[in-house]
Amino acid sequence: MPDNSLSIRPRWTDSRVLKAARREPVDRTPIWLMRQAGRYMPEYRAIREKTTFLGLCKNPDLCAEVMLTAVDRLKVDAAILFADLLLILEPLGLELEFSANEGPVIHNPVRRPEDVDRLRELTDLEPLSYVMEAVRKTRAGLPDELPLIGFAGAPFTLASYAVEGGTSRSFRHTKALMYRDPGAWNALMGRLSRAVALYLNAQIDAGAQLVQLFDSWVGCLGSDDYRRYVLPHSRSALASIRPNAPVIHFATGNPALLPLLSEAGGHVIGVDWRIRLDDAWQALGHQKAIQGNLDPAVLLARPDEIRRRAREVLEQAGGRPGHIFNLGHGVLPQTPVENVVALVEAVKG
Ligand code: CP3
Repeated sequence: MPDNSLSIRPRWTDSRVLKAARREPVDRTPIWLMRQAGRYMPEYRAIREKTTFLGLCKNPDLCAEVMLTAVDRLKVDAAILFADLLLILEPLGLELEFSANEGPVIHNPVRRPEDVDRLRELTDLEPLSYVMEAVRKTRAGLPDELPLIGFAGAPFTLASYAVEGGTSRSFRHTKALMYRDPGAWNALMGRLSRAVALYLNAQIDAGAQLVQLFDSWVGCLGSDDYRRYVLPHSRSALASIRPNAPVIHFATGNPALLPLLSEAGGHVIGVDWRIRLDDAWQALGHQKAIQGNLDPAVLLARPDEIRRRAREVLEQAGGRPGHIFNLGHGVLPQTPVENVVALVEAVKG
């Protein structure tokens, strides 16, 4: 009988990123970069001149074009959906705007327990259908051997925007709600966690091969608060993700949280530069794959220094299966494109 298994097994199944996520050996460490498509890239800025950021996010053709251009220019090993973390807040009833100088603004933030009740439960993804369309179009334009990563904000990071009304340093409104009204806090986090699970599964159904949960700002919490106020909600979101797609669980700011992040879930744990990669892996145990962890500011250095620092990260990974090279956070807008290319070449070489 003819063996058809090769023709029906999609080529991305054996991509380096998916193999590393499964902790299988690879011939070289795979690399992709958070914010690999963004303002540091002239092609991106040219597209952005023609439309607002939200207008871009809601145009699936342009989203696919932006990401495919970046992947082609950088020769990275994966694409990530071009979208924004905060889009999911709109169908919950929050009024989102991206202003040129202040970044994201929510005009009707959640401050009191009554505001939590006002939020809608996300049951229908129709208002976010443009995101699934962007997944389909990006997947259709990508070479078969490259996986597409879907993503969402983790409940805490989404809650921080919903409560603060924008980016924050102190997170005082968020913590005030959490400490004063744990009932309202848990209701908010539950609503976000269910929305995130639904949203990520829809991205998987639309064509994403793995997903990343961004808990970008949870490092403002200590371990006890993470365990009490965040872990149960991140865990329930992650437990609902379809088992066919590996999950990257990413946070920044507080390496002491790493074992708890891992306990909440995820096949791959995303780590920033505040801890050495080998120490992070030690803290997580080698049953988990790891993603990271070059400081994005290193990309502002000269190429020889970038190559040296990339080598250091690879040395700390020590050739163990299960390392996906990335930055510890997104590419900075001031980064020269040729430095990003130099990093990708260094890791591949
Ligand atoms: O990684 C990629 O290339 C894919 C696209 C992507 C964007 N945002 C595009 C974007 C992804 C994965 C995100 C995630 C995101 N968005 C996060 C989590 C990751 C992180 O950086 O911690 C967060 C916190 C946001 C919210 C957000 N979006 C902020 C705070 C801002 C303004 C500040 C900034 O860094 O630009 C954005 C805007 C944004 N998201 C831009 C892009 C390309 C720039 C918008 C512009 O063109 O003006």
